Amino acid sequence: MELGLGSKVVLVTGGSKGIGLACARAFAKEGAKVAIVSRDPANLARAREQLASEGLHIHLTRADLHEPHSAADVVEEVTTAVGPIDILINSAGAARRYDPESLDADAFKATMEAKYFPYIYPQQEVLRRMVERIKAGAAREPGAIVNIIGMGGKYASDIHIAGGAANAALMLATVGLAHYHARYGIRINAINPGATLTERLQEALQLEAEHESVSAEEALARGEARVPLGRYAKPEEIADVALFLASRRASYVTGAIVPMDGCTTPII
Ligand SMILES: NC(=O)c1ccc[n+]([C@@H]2O[C@H](COP(=O)([O-])OP(=O)(O)OC[C@H]3O[C@@H](n4cnc5c(N)ncnc54)[C@H](OP(=O)(O)O)[C@@H]3O)[C@@H](O)[C@H]2O)c1
Repeated sequence: MELGLGSKVVLVTGGSKGIGLACARAFAKEGAKVAIVSRDPANLARAREQLASEGLHIHLTRADLHEPHSAADVVEEVTTAVGPIDILINSAGAARRYDPESLDADAFKATMEAKYFPYIYPQQEVLRRMVERIKAGAAREPGAIVNIIGMGGKYASDIHIAGGAANAALMLATVGLAHYHARYGIRINAINPGATLTERLQEALQLEAEHESVSAEEALARGEARVPLGRYAKPEEIADVALFLASRRASYVTGAIVPMDGCTTPII
């Protein structure tokens, strides 16, 4: 399928690891000009090396996106160095899980700073600039945004109340902003992964294995047995759907929330 992504300028937040890195690789393979942002220079350098060894070249920017001015600086820097952003993939962040009895107001605030705002700040800055370019007649094609959110925003779990609430808020913002920006042709969609085999998940499996005195392989097998498809997702599978949603092949898809949990949670 020809996706028409060659020459697009793509910013992937959280592009140094996990799902974000898989997205950066997938867009670069399509010929897009890819910039990634994350906080740790070592993660950024490692991502660049990995992709360079595959013949793929990306632009790196270091920032902590829970600060509104950092997000604005990143968008400015990428626009200057690479070009006006056509596609934003938001994948920077992760919410800690809390025992419900230790879930105080500070934990809720920390969770919003870890997951909600690192998506909202770059999205607002990118949208502002996309609208400006469209109004000025300078955009080649309206832009697209894909937010990698998480199934934990669709149902309440005792240990993921704050993170689930952040995810639910991101879904509402996705649909609301998609509704408004449709007048400009800008499309905004989201993917809700379930458990996906990134380093973060491997670390969680290791902890679970130690807690339950089983091997990491046993913890993985138990988790995968709970998924109707019989296994966890690979980051590349999430990236493939992000590619499609961001491409002109999804030109009439906006405000959609795509579940990708192997139908573990059979809800509509
Ligand atoms: N993996 C799963 O099973 C799963 C399931 C459901 C939802 N999700 C969601 O999908 C997204 C990606 O998950 P993942 O598993 O790929 O996570 P990951 O492997 O931990 O990668 C997260 C990326 O975001 C960057 N990052 C985190 N906070 C940041 C901040 N404040 N500013 C800038 N960069 C930041 C990290 O790099 P630095 O540390 O260098 O900043 C890293 O590149 C997350 O929002 C996660 O909640 C994942």
